[in-house]
Amino acid sequence: MQTFDKDAFIADCLTAVRTGDGQREVKEIVSRAVADPRGIESEVRPHTESPMMTIWHRSEELTALHIVWPPEVDLFAHDHNMWAVIGIYGGQEDNQFYQRLPDGNIAPHTGKSLLANDVVSLGGSVVHSVRNPTRQWTAALHVYGGEFFTTPRTMWDKKTLEPLPLDIDFIRENLEAAAASARDATTPGERP
Ligand SMILES: [Fe+2]
Repeated sequence: MQTFDKDAFIADCLTAVRTGDGQREVKEIVSRAVADPRGIESEVRPHTESPMMTIWHRSEELTALHIVWPPEVDLFAHDHNMWAVIGIYGGQEDNQFYQRLPDGNIAPHTGKSLLANDVVSLGGSVVHSVRNPTRQWTAALHVYGGEFFTTPRTMWDKKTLEPLPLDIDFIRENLEAAAASARDATTPGERP
């Protein structure tokens, strides 16, 4: 059986945005990849040891990330301002989608729980928050139709749902803190 090849995955996604049908074709590529979780796992470190976010490709035309969510993490609502394809290959990711309001605030709309092998394809104006409600680590491939890190984006305060400029370092710090406490909780030994 063919295993996952990270370089081929990135090359296929780039071909899709350069000469193919872009987002639709990337969704097929991601779907094929997450249909074989063991194949991806052979390319990456075990979930509990993985960095929260590993950049596989970053350019103006495409960003591909390997993401590992710690147990019980609950991230701020945010936009991407570019299309996104998210495929889960381990654990669970609950998506809450929001409606944009005229004053810039947002209101909760629909939701969708994603499990291993599930893929969502999101339009450029989508606002969502993501949550891992389980004690398992959630592992995913994220592909974005642009430069994820330098494109100006918005996140929304958890309590007031007011907009704030998105700070990727703030999000990364939140994730790393959740990961550190999750690792401590699973390390054998006496608890404080
Ligand atoms: Fe997102």
